[in-house]
Amino acid sequence: MCGIFGVINGEPAAPKLLEGLRSLEYRGYDSAGIAMVDPRGSAPMTVVKAIGGVDRLADALRGRPADAVLGIAHTRWATHGQPSVDNAHPHVHAGIAVVHNGIIENHAALRASLGAAGHSFATDTDTEVIPHLIAVHRAEGRDAVGAIAGAMQELSGSYAIAVVFDDDPDALVAARKGSPLVVGCARDGAYLSSDAAALAPYCDKVLALDDGEIAVLRRDGVELRRPEGKIRIDESRWAPARASTGAATRGAFAHFMLKEIDEQPDRFADTITANLKAEIPNALVEARRITFVACGSSAYAASVASAWLEDVAGIPCKVEIASEFRMRRRIPGEAHPVVLISQSGETADTLAALRLAKEQGLPTVALVNVAASQMAREADTVFETRAGKEVSVAATKSFTAQLAALAVLCLRIAVLRGSIDETQARLMLADLRALPQHIATVVAGAGKIAQAAERFEGARSALYLGRGSSAAVACEGALKLKEISYVHAEGYAAGELKHGPLALVDTAMPVVVLGASGPVLEKTASAIAEVRARGGRVLHVTDADGAAATPDVPHVVLPRMTGPAAAIAVPVLECVALQILAYHVAVARGINVDRPRNLAKSVTVE
Ligand code: M6R
Repeated sequence: MCGIFGVINGEPAAPKLLEGLRSLEYRGYDSAGIAMVDPRGSAPMTVVKAIGGVDRLADALRGRPADAVLGIAHTRWATHGQPSVDNAHPHVHAGIAVVHNGIIENHAALRASLGAAGHSFATDTDTEVIPHLIAVHRAEGRDAVGAIAGAMQELSGSYAIAVVFDDDPDALVAARKGSPLVVGCARDGAYLSSDAAALAPYCDKVLALDDGEIAVLRRDGVELRRPEGKIRIDESRWAPARASTGAATRGAFAHFMLKEIDEQPDRFADTITANLKAEIPNALVEARRITFVACGSSAYAASVASAWLEDVAGIPCKVEIASEFRMRRRIPGEAHPVVLISQSGETADTLAALRLAKEQGLPTVALVNVAASQMAREADTVFETRAGKEVSVAATKSFTAQLAALAVLCLRIAVLRGSIDETQARLMLADLRALPQHIATVVAGAGKIAQAAERFEGARSALYLGRGSSAAVACEGALKLKEISYVHAEGYAAGELKHGPLALVDTAMPVVVLGASGPVLEKTASAIAEVRARGGRVLHVTDADGAAATPDVPHVVLPRMTGPAAAIAVPVLECVALQILAYHVAVARGINVDRPRNLAKSVTVE
């Protein structure tokens, strides 16, 4: 996580650094800082840091020297050391300022050896060893690039760094291993960032650094180096700078999350269209099994879709959490495709899982929302969701867009395998195409769901129950609630209730039950009765005639799905209802819904 931005051009750097950081706050927002070099100033380097978001940094910068044309900036998501001004980046030693994204795994050993050589440290961060190491190598007479290359040989872990030197106002230097870093060229200078989209307003073209590369940025362009020497840049590595789709303004909506919930009908429809023509690799059509790998909400999307693929296309599926999958030494069994799902396309564990799958010779497929992401660059096959830019930390439209893409791909794979015929597929697709209007109906009924959210008043813990793919939706609903309202919640397969969780139920506990019409409605009604018998505050989310099925229980009523793709449609609608529910519980608790504590939008550390 953490966002890095840097610029060198002919104009004061501070406004651009602040603007760049604002577009990176999704990567972390607990503190921010900036370092600028100007030999004409009273001191050659100005370093300013603040706790909180970029607005607080802008306040701290007021009245400080601001003529420098070169600078680096950072927005932090704390890994080592709590959010504080000391721990905020840049970290400075001997006139060398460094901003860092990633984790230096051997920082304790480096601190110890540097400490023994007389270095002292002022922060709790892993990053602080970097300027010290660079200074050590500079003292050996190496130039900036040589000193950074020397430091890189001693660092283990993952990192993207940007460095400025107080004795060089004409260059900023950047390097990466494992964490993303992109450089950009503009008519007026050169830029760098941890996210290509942040460079789009300024640059004509951008280039993603490869592992081990060092970039030197000057006003007249970018030069790439490796420790062993200069690299001739292959022109095809430059790509046009592309802004991410979807405006990042929240308009009249109180929060981005609400806006993103509201956009779902359109984003779902766009994603269906985008995936109707995408080429499907043979590896998926002929697969004897598929492993899905993802984190967080994306893993729940995989769980929902794996039930569809097994039912409709007859392919056995397994869902693995990326942080576990990546630790495997080998993946037993015959070669089979690994499908990585990620909104950002950058999540460190999912990216590592992708690399492991490739090392093992398995075909890799990435489903991402960011077309220029690292996963999209590295996977054998890429499918896209068209959710547009998602600002709120909680996944909403990206989740339903993943379901849209997976549903279409499932139908297409099923036809290619002969598991369903063209006519069945057409009817199911027509159902899917009608789904955005039903999503819009759920969104339009948000007022009723807001009333239902009152059942969470004073609650400290909640249960979410569902069956089949709705069990995964229950887990996603519980994640949404805990993430933005800080109410502890768990999702369970409803049948598991009496095997343990029922012990938790008391009069203070809300229990959200997903129970649509169909063969399991009666069983759901039994689970509801069991909870009510213990005084639990049930909320039944259903497309059935709730009053008849579960009388005396409050309901969230969904549009009735009866078509051939009802099993695909129902979980999507349930999920939208649970997003709205979590939103209103969080708002009632006065929480900053878009930026819940301790989290970041993009998890680029392990
Ligand atoms: O970008 P990714 O889809 O790889 O992110 C995975 C998770 O970090 C993400 O889904 C997270 O769980 C969401 N904040 C949940 O709302």
